[in-house]
Amino acid sequence: MSKIHILDHPLLQHKVTILRNENTTVKDFRQIVSEVATLMCYEATRDLPVEEIEVQTPVAKAVAHQIAGKKMAIVPILRAGLGMVDGILTLVPGAKVGHIGLYRDPVTLEPVKYYCKMPSDIALRDVIVLDPMLATGGSASAAITFLKEYGVQHIKLMNILAAPEGVARVQADHPDVDIYIAALDDKLNDHGYIVPGLGDAGDRIFGTK
Ligand code: PRP
Ligand code: URA
Repeated sequence: MSKIHILDHPLLQHKVTILRNENTTVKDFRQIVSEVATLMCYEATRDLPVEEIEVQTPVAKAVAHQIAGKKMAIVPILRAGLGMVDGILTLVPGAKVGHIGLYRDPVTLEPVKYYCKMPSDIALRDVIVLDPMLATGGSASAAITFLKEYGVQHIKLMNILAAPEGVARVQADHPDVDIYIAALDDKLNDHGYIVPGLGDAGDRIFGTK
């Protein structure tokens, strides 16, 4: 069974509260989604392997550590996942970025794929899938299935908010994928929106409503 990591650092809780507030402006919402992604990245990369190296300081030789050559990629689910990209690249500037375009059919709530572009060596990389919202879990599960078809072996999922239904769906479909979230909400409403949630993440990031 995959692990669910609820990242409840006080800074994250504070920023998520600002995201939930319906009065938060588009500009602030976009900025804070990015900041939340940076903070979550710090925790989600805690298990990266390190190796010892020797480095010459101005004073003496030191035995120090560096990341052990792990190749990373991040894959935002369009559109809303785009809002998390810069925040991750702030900490991991060398990560490659693949894109998967999925939208949720408003009636069936099933994900519909409309775009895909991956780095050519994606199968060799550890991948973090990004999407602020894990609602039914249909979009995340489809994106992960797609990456596995490309041969990706190590996948993590990062969402800001999740509903229990979405967590259960990803854990059932992809028991090898750990999930990192900043808050686990109560439920979905009849339209598949997370309750209490923060509304439509894509619309709030891009100002389309
Ligand atoms: C939202 C969100 C996820 C999806 C989550 O995207 O960003 O991708 O819904 O729902 P699910 O877990 O039930 O699949 P949306 O379809 O609204 O597209 P957008 O990002 O282009 O706004
Ligand atoms: N997508 C969103 O943007 N918000 C939700 O609450 C559910 C799906």
